[in-house]
Amino acid sequence: MKDIYLNLDKNIILTGFMGSGKSTIGRIIAKKLNHGYFLDTDSLIEHFENREISEIFTNDGEEYFRNCEKRVFNWIKNDVKNAIISTGGGLPMFIPEIKEAGIVIYLKVNFNDIVNRLTDEEIAKRPLFQDLNKAKELFEKRDTIYTKLADFVIENNNLNNTIKQIEQIINTYS
Ligand code: S3P
Repeated sequence: MKDIYLNLDKNIILTGFMGSGKSTIGRIIAKKLNHGYFLDTDSLIEHFENREISEIFTNDGEEYFRNCEKRVFNWIKNDVKNAIISTGGGLPMFIPEIKEAGIVIYLKVNFNDIVNRLTDEEIAKRPLFQDLNKAKELFEKRDTIYTKLADFVIENNNLNNTIKQIEQIINTYS
């Protein structure tokens, strides 16, 4: 059922660590919108580059990838509105002005839950999740930054509750 009316000047932006559910939740919310759509910054980069994220990291390095992210962000900021946008887990670290493109919602999940949720295939796609100890360090460093740069923080422990909370936020702003 299309039960959310999204009428924003900007977008709803989902942030959070790798595997926190940004894309899954973004897609579900976007399907419920009367008008509006879903975008995923990693998928946009893969389309523009015509190759996978892991290949970009291997062949051109992280800095190149972050430049791609910046270009995608600028496009969103200038030309996109009424979209639900899921971002790559590192985006807010490199683009602290993220709020300029929309209302930022941090989907917070604890590290052990993320590790339990991700399949081997999903881990293989993520260059910065290859070493578990390093991923944990990254997680701990980033949590404060996600929180600081968010308009809302949602503890994403229960899918239905998370969806309901995002719907409420959208309804408040629309
Ligand atoms: C990254 C997260 C990935 C992807 C890239 C870098 C990060 O996105 O952008 O591998 O720095 O946390 P997901 O959060 O969708 O895994």
